[in-house]
Amino acid sequence: MYRLGQKEIDEVSKVIKARKMFRVGDPKTGHLQEANRFEKEWAHTIGVKHALLLSGGGTAGLMAGLAGMGIGPGDEVIVPGYTFMATAAAVLMVGAIPVIAEINETLTLDPRDVEKKIGPHTKAIIPVHMCGIPADMKTLTALARKHKIKVLEDCCQADGGSFRGKRLGSWGQAGAYSFNDFKIMSAGEGGALVTNDDKIFERAGIYSDSGTTFRPYVKNFTVPIFLGFQFRSTEIMGAILRMQLQRLAGMLADLRRIRARFVAKLKGNPGIRFAPSNDPKGDCGVVASFQFKSEALARAFAKAEGVGGWLPIDSGKHVYSNWDPILKHRVGHSPGMNPYRMPNNKGLRLNYTKNMCPRTLDILKRTVFISLHPDWTEAQVRTRIAVCRKAGASL
Ligand SMILES: Cc1ncc(COP(=O)(O)O)c(C=O)c1O
Repeated sequence: MYRLGQKEIDEVSKVIKARKMFRVGDPKTGHLQEANRFEKEWAHTIGVKHALLLSGGGTAGLMAGLAGMGIGPGDEVIVPGYTFMATAAAVLMVGAIPVIAEINETLTLDPRDVEKKIGPHTKAIIPVHMCGIPADMKTLTALARKHKIKVLEDCCQADGGSFRGKRLGSWGQAGAYSFNDFKIMSAGEGGALVTNDDKIFERAGIYSDSGTTFRPYVKNFTVPIFLGFQFRSTEIMGAILRMQLQRLAGMLADLRRIRARFVAKLKGNPGIRFAPSNDPKGDCGVVASFQFKSEALARAFAKAEGVGGWLPIDSGKHVYSNWDPILKHRVGHSPGMNPYRMPNNKGLRLNYTKNMCPRTLDILKRTVFISLHPDWTEAQVRTRIAVCRKAGASL
């Protein structure tokens, strides 16, 4: 969360004063339709037909997307080795098996490794736009078309980002977003799924809304109702996110301006090399990412006075080698619910090792991120750039 204030307070007050916090209600009785309006506005922003706002976070968005695609036991889904564990967990929560692939220097899914890992049971790939950095969606979607598999974009860390001028989340068949407190837009918690595909939308809606018990439009669905989870948002969440959306363009413009300044002022300076980018203009500007020849150099740069850098290898459950519940097959509350033990998953690629993606680990050890903030003053930006220049020269 970067910016939050009076707009959100005022909009939430309206919901509370109306005493209509449940998301379904009749506008004629004073219901404000905040969740519905956010869904329309978010779909419009991303440039897709449908959006679902969900209380279960980006995890629920990913689960609903996979369920919407009909993915389940017997299916494999390719995920990158650098992403929050929730990406792989969502695959397991629908009963499918995550296959872990390498990232490349851009810190996103490596299309070459994806191609090597596509097998007879692969049903989808999940490119993840980590730290707001766009994955190579052109190559990945072409690959998916060639192999007739689906693409679910994990845009949880990239609300509003784009690749080649098209918003992240609109490249694949579906896209998931997170609005938890660490994300670009925030309501404390929350998530969304977007899609252009009516069937995915219907199935995802049924899956995430108790079989859509309460939605008036469900009578038009072509998919028979099945039982699902209860991930409905509240009107409060819709109200906050509508105001966060009004701030999005400004937040992204400021983050991107600051990131561009880092690149313009530091590129080519002694000791400094930026990580390559699939699309610097579409990058959300959440971080400036530097790459070094060795971990020792990366650590020296990150720790240099005033730099405030961090190595993605140290980011815990964002690195596959730390996904212990997955590596050790501890999934589900009851053995029969564990996808690793499900009969349909027999013969799939169930086993992992801590060093199965050595290139990913190597890149994460040699990369340094500096987290940027859209409200940094001109003086703060100048100071941070100056300390990076000095730290690079001293390596
Ligand atoms: C890349 C990525 N995927 C999925 C998630 C899950 O989102 P949430 O915590 O909102 O369920 C996160 C959140 O931290 C994330 O960073």
